[in-house]
Amino acid sequence: MNQALITTIEKQALETLVAIKDKETLMRWEVQFLGRKSELSSMLKDVKNLTPEQKRTLAPKLQGLRQKLVTELTLKQVEIENNARDWEGERVDVTAPGIARPVGHLHPITQLENEVLEIFEALGFAVADGPEVETEWYNFDALNFPKDHPARDMQDTFWLKGGGAKIKKNGKTEAERLLMRTHTSPNQVRFMEKNKPPFRVIVPGRVFRNEATDASHEHTFHQFECLMLDETGKVNVATFKYLAETFFGTFFGKKVTIRLRPSFFPFTEPSFEFDISCVLCDSAGCSTCKQTGWIEIGGAGMVHQNVLEAAGYPKGKYQGFAWGFGLTRLAMMKYKITDIRQFMGGDLRFIRQF
Ligand code: DAH
Repeated sequence: MNQALITTIEKQALETLVAIKDKETLMRWEVQFLGRKSELSSMLKDVKNLTPEQKRTLAPKLQGLRQKLVTELTLKQVEIENNARDWEGERVDVTAPGIARPVGHLHPITQLENEVLEIFEALGFAVADGPEVETEWYNFDALNFPKDHPARDMQDTFWLKGGGAKIKKNGKTEAERLLMRTHTSPNQVRFMEKNKPPFRVIVPGRVFRNEATDASHEHTFHQFECLMLDETGKVNVATFKYLAETFFGTFFGKKVTIRLRPSFFPFTEPSFEFDISCVLCDSAGCSTCKQTGWIEIGGAGMVHQNVLEAAGYPKGKYQGFAWGFGLTRLAMMKYKITDIRQFMGGDLRFIRQF
């Protein structure tokens, strides 16, 4: 073994390597120059039989050569792999314009809901939520609806098949029939159960009615419940009227007059429906207000003591008002939409306008 032999091996290995263009030949090259039976390997094995002097000079040379061949092998492997790749197919035109991703936005009803919530929050109201699948108790009984009230009919309410829900009322657990809530009012009782007056709260939500649809009726729409409760004597109809005037005045950005008309709801006493002065024609008379100068908005009233009792409050201790109205109706007014079915119809040409 001598220096000349090492140089020869190196020269031979590198020269053959340069010409290699495929994996198989490269593998053979590896066996020939780096394999167990290669000349280099047997020389490395023989190092232990060398004189100390030879060891000092030749051993590092042998190691160095081995290292060099391993490195060259790796480089060659990468080269062969790169050549085999279909670069043309992978070509990316970095100057091509990108594909615009469609960006969605909030549904007009959600936008309006947020607007309404903001105004109420500024007036110190909390915002609560409740289930869309409701029990008969919260939707009707607790709200003082008589057992034979027509609103419970198949024609008005979507009843759900299957077993009822077990709920606690007056300390007893009872099974209740399930339905799609027909209004947001059940949340009055739900909120009262978990909170203690004084409080003021609003509950926006989707409600469902089992009815034929037309331009002004939809089976699914959005409502808004408002409840303000305090000890007896502190909150009255005047408080409600002031709040309604403040809210609608802020919402429409102009002074609005509220008109109350006597009405009936099982869960309020006294009950009334309320109108606002027409904001479109300033009460001069237009098609929206049907030439009356007033627009019907919703229902309200002083919470019936039976409802407070159903929520677990002692009768007579607290007093307050409840108020509900259709967000969808408000949206129709604001955007001058004449067909309610467009909101839930899923037609993006309509939705994209907002
Ligand atoms: N829940 C009623 C409905 O869906 C609306 C309503 C009327 C809500 C009077 C109230 C109220 O809170 O006091 O028609």
